Parts: sequence; structure tokens; C-alpha cells
Amino acid sequence: MKQERKKKIAIITGASSGLGQEFAFQLDRIFHELDEIWLIARRKDRLVELSKLLDLPARPIVMDVAKEHEIRGFVEMLQKEDVSVRMLINCAGYGLMGRFDALDIGEQLGMLEVNCKALTRLTYECIPYMCKNGRIIQLASSAAFVPQKNFAIYAATKSYVLSFSRALREELKEKSIWVTTVCPGPVETEFFDIAEKYGTTLAVKKLTIVPPQKVVKDALLDSYDKKALSVCSFPIKTFGILAKIIPHSCILHIMGLLK
Ligand SMILES: NC(=O)c1ccc[n+]([C@@H]2O[C@H](COP(=O)([O-])OP(=O)(O)OC[C@H]3O[C@@H](n4cnc5c(N)ncnc54)[C@H](OP(=O)(O)O)[C@@H]3O)[C@@H](O)[C@H]2O)c1
Repeated sequence: MKQERKKKIAIITGASSGLGQEFAFQLDRIFHELDEIWLIARRKDRLVELSKLLDLPARPIVMDVAKEHEIRGFVEMLQKEDVSVRMLINCAGYGLMGRFDALDIGEQLGMLEVNCKALTRLTYECIPYMCKNGRIIQLASSAAFVPQKNFAIYAATKSYVLSFSRALREELKEKSIWVTTVCPGPVETEFFDIAEKYGTTLAVKKLTIVPPQKVVKDALLDSYDKKALSVCSFPIKTFGILAKIIPHSCILHIMGLLK
């Protein structure tokens, strides 16, 4: 009897802009063995437009990853299609700058829903469909390295992503599934349109900002090399090392002086 070959796919969340969109462009250029790229976000027009720009077949999946019933629909799609997931890239996320006691609590809890809970749930649901030598790329941030005044919840969510993903990497090694956590500093995307919408800005942004193309290129190379971490640019790598050596109280004090 003829055995049906499983469709080889890559799944990208947060594909409607910024890093997620750039992952789609770069995978399209280099990952010719894929049968399809699944593009997940809420903005349908952006996903449809992106899918038309790719050479590989792409499936726009309009979904709010923070909504349980929409996640259930996605899980049903995975079950029905019985795909082989070559790569899962969790980019969906947002940050909000400002004092914890001054920002809307609903918007702040939303960061936990999207950055932590949805990323965890989607990773869990995709693992059974992942093939040997599959890759998971998790978007954390350099904000994961130390607590951050006026970015408290966001930094905490990214610390969660980093901690969770490093542990998961150790667990999944025996299945030959390789997890890489990406910790960029500021990147030129729409991220800051949301993060700075209440007027608080990131002091070091202008000095350290990098284009999404560089972050994604490094992340894909590091994932290919089965590296645990991908930290783009010299200043952010240095920050990561200092965060391991210098007491966080000192770093918080110095960061508080930067305006
Ligand atoms: N840019 C930076 O400076 C920077 C630095 C370090 C880490 N990161 C991290 O990198 C990731 C990507 O950020 P980016 O810079 O590419 O920002 P971005 O351009 O604002 O993209 C964020 C993406 O997340 C999607 N998203 C947000 N909430 C969602 C939800 N509830 N359901 C589904 N999709 C949702 C958005 O799509 P829709 O609005 O269409 O749903 C969008 O595609 C984030 O996790 C961010 O924390 C960014």
C-alpha cells in the first residue's frame, strides 16, 4: 500500500510584522524542503499580503493566540492535517513601558497571556508533531537578563521564556528536537509603537537598535548550529555577560540613571 508522505511545515507566530515576518522571508529563501509555511497573527490582511510575497506555499492562520477557543481550532487543524513540523518559531508578543501601578492592568496581564501562556501552549501542542532534528525558536529578549524598572512585567515575561526554553531544550534533546532562545536588544520593528505608547521610552534604544534582518539571520544560523542562545550584537552580548557578573541591584541603579 502506498504510504502518504506527511507535509513538512514551519509555523511562525507573530508573522504579520517585525521579526515574525522577517523569519518568513528568510525561511522562504533558504528552507526549500518545506511544503508549507503556516503564518499566525490577528491581522488577516497582513498575513495574506505576506503569503503572496513568498515563493513557498503559505497558509495565513488568523488567530488570537491569547484566546483558548482559537488555540483549540489550531490544535484541531494540526490533528486533521497530521503534519511534520520542521520548525516552530514563537514570535507573537508585546511589551508595554510605564509604571506598573499606572498602566491598565488588563493590558499588562495580556503580556502574560501572549508572551508566556500562549507561547507555552503552542509549544506543547506542536511538540507531538515535530520531527527528529526539528527546531523550536523562542523569542525572549535581552530584557530577560535583569529586572527592568518601567518594563517590569515585560522583562518578567521574557525571563520566563528564557528559563522555560532552556529547561525545555534539555528535555527535548533526547528526541533530537533543538530549542534556541533568541534574546535581542532593541530591534527596528513596530514593537516600540506599542511599547512606548504611554510616553515612557527606552533610554538605550537609539544606541543599540539593530535591523530585524540581522536578528533573524543570526537566530536561524544559531538554530541550525543547535545553539541554546542567540544574542545579536556586541553590546547586548556584553550586557548579557555583565548581568551574570554584576549584582542586579547595581545594574538597576545604573539603568535608573539613564534617561
Ligand atoms: N522589537 C524589539 O525591540 C524586540 C526586542 C526583543 C524581543 N522582541 C520580541 O520579539 C517578538 C516579535 O516582536 P517584533 O519586534 O517583531 O514586534 P511586532 O512587529 O510588534 O510584532 C509582534 C507580532 O506579534 C503578534 N501578536 C501580538 N499579539 C498577538 C496575539 N494576541 N495573537 C496573535 N498574534 C499576536 C502581532 O500580530 P497581530 O497584531 O497581527 O496579531 C505581530 O505579528 C516579541 O515576542 C517581542 O517581545 C522584540
